[in-house]
Amino acid sequence: MTKIFVINGPNLNLLGDREPEVYGTTTLKEIEQLCRDVAREAGAEVDFRQTNDEGTFIDWLHEARQSADAVVLNPAAFTHHSYAVAEAVSALDVPVVEVHLSNIYSREEWRRRSVVSPVATAVVAGLGARGYTVAVAAACELAEGKG
Ligand code: DQA
Repeated sequence: MTKIFVINGPNLNLLGDREPEVYGTTTLKEIEQLCRDVAREAGAEVDFRQTNDEGTFIDWLHEARQSADAVVLNPAAFTHHSYAVAEAVSALDVPVVEVHLSNIYSREEWRRRSVVSPVATAVVAGLGARGYTVAVAAACELAEGKG
């Protein structure tokens, strides 16, 4: 069965509670369920994770090299500065969809640059929790070579 890793970075465990005016009121647990539903419809399965630790985030990307058919990732603040995360994404040879709840390009100057986007297959930003369903649906299609 097609396997999609959905990997979330720092502070995303606080979704629902954290700056709801920016990130919405949907919790990460609810987003996980949305991702599972979309994947199931596409005949795929999701391995959904979150960490506040950069090393763990990178280890999971390495694991995806062997175990995933596509990756959806929200690198959160790592997006803007972590060349280590960008290089781990670069080392993947499966499709990678970068997702952000907010439109990072319409926010503070420091958020407008993603070091991950140049090595991602696609980017979804500004759709809130719905962005994850769009990203997972796209990842399923890309994994099956339909993208
Ligand atoms: C975010 C945007 C980042 O700038 C921020 O650090 C996050 C969440 C988003 O999903 O909109 O933690 O990745």
